[in-house]
Amino acid sequence: MKKVFRMLIVLFVIVGCSTDDDGGPKVGGPTDPVDGGDSGDGGNVDPYTYTATSDLKDIVDFPIGNIVSASKLTSGSTSNQAFREVLNREYNSITAENDMKMANIFTAPGTYDFSDGDAIVDYAKANGFRVHGHTLVWHASIPTWLENFDGTDEEFETLIEDYVKATVSHFAQETMTYNGEEVSVVAGWDVVNEVWDGSSLRNSLFRQRMGDDYAAKLFTWAREADPDVKLFYNDYNIAGETSKRNLILGMVNNFISNDVPIDGIGMQMHLNHNWPVDDLPTAIEEVAATGLLVHISELDVKVNYSDDITEFTVERAQAQEEQYQRAAYHYVTKVPEDQQYGLTIWGFRDNDSWLYDNGNDWPLLYNNDFETKIAHRGLVEGLQGNAP
Ligand code: G3I
Repeated sequence: MKKVFRMLIVLFVIVGCSTDDDGGPKVGGPTDPVDGGDSGDGGNVDPYTYTATSDLKDIVDFPIGNIVSASKLTSGSTSNQAFREVLNREYNSITAENDMKMANIFTAPGTYDFSDGDAIVDYAKANGFRVHGHTLVWHASIPTWLENFDGTDEEFETLIEDYVKATVSHFAQETMTYNGEEVSVVAGWDVVNEVWDGSSLRNSLFRQRMGDDYAAKLFTWAREADPDVKLFYNDYNIAGETSKRNLILGMVNNFISNDVPIDGIGMQMHLNHNWPVDDLPTAIEEVAATGLLVHISELDVKVNYSDDITEFTVERAQAQEEQYQRAAYHYVTKVPEDQQYGLTIWGFRDNDSWLYDNGNDWPLLYNNDFETKIAHRGLVEGLQGNAP
């Protein structure tokens, strides 16, 4: 029965008689791959996937990253083995999706659990990956005990200073040879994430307890703990929201003029298939103009932002392919080589993504069966310097 159904689907796709509002077939799609495999090469029937001929990390000289967890790196399940096969083949940089956030590490005053981060560093060392540390301080990852901490502001600040220094020092210890140089496995840290909320300073617990200049304090402590690790400010919609970008650039330029130690800016790049378009190159150029390292730190491309499709359409898949290409193309062509810290994708399979929304979005490079989506082809083209 299932076989007959699949054959019918193949037939529908071949004769192109199933269309929707977007002009593309509604059957198949990355969450329901059609037998027969990939397309775009060799006359295959599935327009959503293709046979990749280039592995991402082999295309460019800067690191190409994706996210991991300690459990996915160590588990023996079939899907995690498939995940590691793709990870090792296509990527050379990893970021912990959650394991190195404050809520996971800072278990009690003066007590830190680095075990998951250590497992990630061990894997990186054994398999030749750089680790990007994410993220020391973020309003959305505060341990409950700290949210409820009823000590003075001064005591709160000391707890945070100790935590930042302990964490950065801990992860500075492991070194490896990377691109011929002896370096710390953890090459950089997102020191603080999302200080800005639209057009104002976010009223986070850290701002309330430590003052409006808390971000500068965090960078200073991180530098005191490790003179070499690259220190990043990381935020979303730096491309897309010009007023927010201006505030961020104002803060960063202020850090630079006042010798607050900052090395780079992480542009998260949670994009939509059709947004932003014109502002993307402008944003990348303006961020690069600071002279700092630029990290595309959390790239994914939502295709159903307005909730106007119920299944992935070919038109959306193609728009997504183009948007991945756009992001990569502007990064490789607008960021000077010595400022290219890397480009990191925020997830593998669509159903692993924080944007999956119970199957209502398809934001990543691989479908639920780890087949390579045409979005990947867009990324490859962009990395190769081909304009969308
Ligand atoms: O691990 C627990 C599990 O034990 C529990 O049963 C389950 C119930 O909700 O929760 C699980 O934890 C979830 C965790 O992801 C692991 O899946 C948390 O609730 C959930 O909040 C957490 O979401 C993460 C989110 O950051 C908040 O930390 C996402 O995975 C992660 O992709 C997302 O990443 C952020 C970046 O760090 C910063 N930029 C935005 C980006 C997207 O939100």
